[in-house]
Amino acid sequence: MRIEDAKILAALPDLRIDRVEGASLSNYTSLGIGGTTDLLLIKCHASIPELVKMLDAAGYAHKFLGGGSNVLIRDGELPWVMLHLVKPEPEVRLDGNFAYVDAAADLGRTVTFCAKNNLGGMEGLIGVPGTVGGALRMNAGAYGIQIGTYVREVELYRAASRSLVTLKGDEIHFEYRHTSFALDDIMLAVKLELPSKPFKEILNGIRICNEKRRSSQPLNQKSAGCIFKNPPGASAGRMLDELGLKGLNVGDARVSDRHANFFVNAGNATAAQMLSLIDTVRERVRQSYGITLEEEVVIWK
Ligand code: EPU
Repeated sequence: MRIEDAKILAALPDLRIDRVEGASLSNYTSLGIGGTTDLLLIKCHASIPELVKMLDAAGYAHKFLGGGSNVLIRDGELPWVMLHLVKPEPEVRLDGNFAYVDAAADLGRTVTFCAKNNLGGMEGLIGVPGTVGGALRMNAGAYGIQIGTYVREVELYRAASRSLVTLKGDEIHFEYRHTSFALDDIMLAVKLELPSKPFKEILNGIRICNEKRRSSQPLNQKSAGCIFKNPPGASAGRMLDELGLKGLNVGDARVSDRHANFFVNAGNATAAQMLSLIDTVRERVRQSYGITLEEEVVIWK
């Protein structure tokens, strides 16, 4: 979708928003898949209410893209404008055991920065790609750790009230790959409280998690991490593996040979091919196990 409204185009510089006209979102997602649309790069959180108000008034639908590492975006010209936060400098500010982190900050870099300052707890999240905002919205987790445990405050744009709000940690509900944030809330910043730990000890935890991840996940291929959530008490990856689905493909969309719950883009996969593979695999699991797997990856059709 291209913005043609003259009033909006004229207002963007004052709002400190850059427009990338007709951006191919395949360049902004870890899967390397996604259609084209105008991408608005937001450098100032305070501009969001005014921007959304103008887009709504002119009839432009919008969505918000974080790090693009857990999303499958449809092909072709997209019927919405894409909003994206630009990282500020610095991304993280520390005060005692509290870390104040911008939502656009890279999660891995944040974990490392805190570690260097003897703040631990998030070791398991080290190899999780994407931004802190994306991790927060999904309550990203790995190796027994989830980010929600450390959240004390979140600043967000709340679409329902069209305003910037701050929520205390106990006002937010975190569960397995799910939070109480509304779908159209935009994460802006978070205050984390992290336990003190010597850097060497944290580094050791990070190394162990990195090794486990390298040995079990296809890190050198384009993917969006795990495609399905684990059903209660079971592992989607193991089920798919048991069914012999590794290597199954629709075009260049392929079930990884290394971890069956990772679907990789082995070349020029389209969203349509990836969606078809997801449906085929889900159906195979339903027939064999009587379980309907839910997607872990966010799908924008
Ligand atoms: N397994 C197989 N074959 C496979 C994949 C896994 O037999 O192809 C077996 C493993 O050997 C293991 C069990 O299944 O015994 C569980 O596998 P793994 O330890 O890889 O964990 P997972 O449940 O598949 C979850 C998260 C990952 C996270 C890891 C590590 C979900 C859907 N996945 O995977 O998160 O990195 O644990 O904590 O919760 C993601 O969210 O995108 C993601 C990759």
